[in-house]
Amino acid sequence: MRLSDPKLLEALPRLGVERVVGASLAERTSLGIGGVTDLLVIRRHEALPELVQLLRGAGIAFRFLGGGTNLLVPDGDLPWIVLQLARQDPEVRLEGNFALVDAAADLGRTVTFCAKHDLGGMEGLIGVPGTIGGALRMNAGAYGTQIGSYVREVQLYRAADGRIETLRGNHVRFEYRHTSFAPDDIMLAVKLELPSKPFREILQGIRICNEKRRASQPLNQKSAGCIFKNPAGKSAGRMIDELGLKGFAVGDARVSDRHANFFVNAGHASCADMLALIAEVRERVRRAFDVQLENEVILWTNA
Ligand code: EPU
Repeated sequence: MRLSDPKLLEALPRLGVERVVGASLAERTSLGIGGVTDLLVIRRHEALPELVQLLRGAGIAFRFLGGGTNLLVPDGDLPWIVLQLARQDPEVRLEGNFALVDAAADLGRTVTFCAKHDLGGMEGLIGVPGTIGGALRMNAGAYGTQIGSYVREVQLYRAADGRIETLRGNHVRFEYRHTSFAPDDIMLAVKLELPSKPFREILQGIRICNEKRRASQPLNQKSAGCIFKNPAGKSAGRMIDELGLKGFAVGDARVSDRHANFFVNAGHASCADMLALIAEVRERVRRAFDVQLENEVILWTNA
């Protein structure tokens, strides 16, 4: 989609919003799949309410992009534009045991920055790709750690009210890869409370998690992490592996040889290839184990 509404185009410079015409989503997602559309990069959080109001007024559909690391986007000319927050400088400010982190900050860099200042707790999250905002929305977790445990405050744009609001952490439900945020809420910043720990000790934890991840996940291939959520008490990866589906492919969309719950783009996979692979594997697991796997990856394929 190309933006052409004159009122909107005229307002962008004043709002500090940069327009990237015909941005490729394949270049902005870790799967390397996705079509093209106009991208609006938001430099100042305060611009968001007016920007959304203008988009709604002009009847322009939009989606909000975080780090693009857990996302499957359709191919071709996309029927909506994409909004994204620009990285802030600094991304993280520390106040005692509190870290005030911008939503566009990289999760891994944030963990490392806090570690260098003797603030730990999030070692398990070190290799999870993506932004703090994305991690927050999904309650990202790994190796026994989930980001939700450390959240004390969230600043977000509440689409329902059209306003920027601050929520107390204990007013948000953080569950396994799920939160109580509304689907159209946009994360802006978070206040984390992290336990004090010597840097060396944190580094040790980080090294252990990195090693485990390197040994079990296809880190050098294009993927969106785990495709399915683990059903209670079960491992989706193990079930898919037991069915002998490692290496199973639809076009260039392929079940990883290393971890069966990672589906990789082994070349030029289309969105349709990836969707077909997801549907086929889900069906085979249902038939064999009577388990209906739920997506962990976010699909932008529905209207
Ligand atoms: N397994 C297999 N074959 C495979 C993959 C796994 O037999 O191909 C077995 C493993 O040997 C292990 C069990 O299944 O006994 C669980 O595997 P693993 O420890 O790799 O963890 P997982 O349950 O597959 C979850 C998260 C990952 C997270 C790891 C580490 C989900 C869906 N996945 O994976 O998160 O990194 O634990 O904590 O919750 C993600 O969210 O995208 C993600 C990758």
